[in-house]
Amino acid sequence: MKILFIGDIVGSVGRKALKTCLPTLKNKYNPHWIIANGENAAAGRGITAAIAKDFFELGVHGITMGNHTWDQKEIFDFIDKEDRMVRPANFPQGTPGKGMTFIKVKDIELALINLQGRTFLPPLDCPFEKANELVEQAKKRTKYVFVDFHAEATSEKLAMGWHLDGKVSAVVGTHTHVQTNDERLLPQGTAYVTDVGMVGPRDGILGMERNAVLQKFKTQLPVRFVVDEGKWHFHAVSIELDPATGLGKKIQLIRMDEDTILFE
Ligand SMILES: [Fe+2]
Ligand SMILES: [Fe+2]
Repeated sequence: MKILFIGDIVGSVGRKALKTCLPTLKNKYNPHWIIANGENAAAGRGITAAIAKDFFELGVHGITMGNHTWDQKEIFDFIDKEDRMVRPANFPQGTPGKGMTFIKVKDIELALINLQGRTFLPPLDCPFEKANELVEQAKKRTKYVFVDFHAEATSEKLAMGWHLDGKVSAVVGTHTHVQTNDERLLPQGTAYVTDVGMVGPRDGILGMERNAVLQKFKTQLPVRFVVDEGKWHFHAVSIELDPATGLGKKIQLIRMDEDTILFE
């Protein structure tokens, strides 16, 4: 049983990369579930119904979000109805959407959980307590439980990995847009990586046009960031799960760019 998880898809370049790479990745890794982070899919800010629909048509089964969830106003019209999408579960009570959903493919369910960190990000409810609550619910229904922990600090993401070790199939980090080289199976069997990375413009800064970002750092003046154009890079992770336990068997990073498509 495999999960292919794709890091934050950024803007039209990211969407193009998804379309280009997904058919081949499906053949190579043969994932049972394909999950993608969509918080930057619409010009770097949030996601629209049309983009989410495109992702589903390409074969994505579930979409996770993050701190950019509310950037597109139209999300309020569809997030409550869209069962294949989650936003961080520790957003305040009464927030539209949900933090956990069940993605059923060929009769097997994956509990898909999205949480957000609180270090260098807004002060939300405790993600660790929320994780306990949701994992307990999820386990009543399926042994396959996947967590996208959208957070800035490496330490907070590692803490979540250890907090959930042996309790869930995988904890993967998103949000920093830079893939980390620390993928591993934790001792009790949870697959873990601090950050999956991103899918989108390769030569910008975290997907944004780099001159504007440079200008901001150099002058400290307010600058409007736009998604970069040009070539893409593609970061994802393939996680193999043990059907007996639902825990991780293998975790493999995927890292490609437009000039070096590494399909081995
Ligand atoms: Fe992001
Ligand atoms: Fe983010």
